[in-house]
Order: sequence, then structure tokens, then C-alpha cells
Amino acid sequence: MKIAIGNDHAALEMKLEISTWVTGLGHEIVNFGADSKDSCDYPIYAEKVAKAVVSGDAELGILICGTGVGISIAANKVKGIRAVVCSEPYSAQLSREHNNTNILAFGARVVGVDLAKMIVKSWLNAEYEAGRHARRVEQISQIENGGVIC
Ligand code: RB5
Repeated sequence: MKIAIGNDHAALEMKLEISTWVTGLGHEIVNFGADSKDSCDYPIYAEKVAKAVVSGDAELGILICGTGVGISIAANKVKGIRAVVCSEPYSAQLSREHNNTNILAFGARVVGVDLAKMIVKSWLNAEYEAGRHARRVEQISQIENGGVIC
């Protein structure tokens, strides 16, 4: 799978560790930066990765900042993105199966590398179940498109 990855200054080391590890699992990583520990603005990298995902250039995206919060909020502003921020594997797995998330975010200041790998593995191995969840995911898209569902 082709996976876009992005981060801010708080997550450079985590990004490098996760990129190497995900590549070792047989996936292709496309790096959108940042590649320095100099202070930078996480929305820039969120937008780059989110646009790679919605354009189809990458199948999925991974975003890492200090908490995973800001970078996931920013990514979710791009139409077609369903980004989840996770600190444990259960929600990561269910976010794929039920919510069809296309970006996983987490915090380099929140989780250690081993837990981050468990989160990423759970998310990558899970598949969207559609079925009863499809209507709800479609309703999320309706909100995004300005539609009225209630
Ligand atoms: C940077 O200091 C920090 O605010 C950022 O990495 C992230 O945690 C924002 O949500």
C-alpha cells in the first residue's frame, strides 16, 4: 500500500521510526515532511498529506504531531478526509472498520514508539466493513457537503 506521512517538529524522530518500520512491513511510504526539528506549523503537513489521500496519490495517510490533535483537526478540514487521532489500537482498528478513516494521527508526546507501532498495525490491518456503517459514513459526507440530515 502507498501511504503518505507527515509531521511537525515535535514528531520528526517518531516519523522516521514509523516510516522505516512501515516500509519493512512491505508498504511504500511517501514523505511530506517536516524533516527538521525547527519549529513549524502542523497544518501545512496535514494539508499536504490530506490532499495526497483525496487525490488518490496515496491510499492512506499517517500524521504525527505532539498530541496528534492539531494535525488531525487540520486534515479533517480537507473534503473527503476522515482522520482519527488514536492513543490505543482498539479505536484505531474500529475507526477503519466502522468509520472508514483514511488518515491515522497520533501524538509523539503521547505514545511511545512501541505503542505507536501497535496502533499503526491495527489500523493498517483493519478493513472497512461498510454494511450498517455505510449510511452513517455517507451522512458524514452529507454534512461536509452542506446537506441537511436533520
Ligand atoms: C507543537 O508544540 C504542538 O502544539 C503540536 O505538535 C501539536 O501537539 C498540536 O496539536
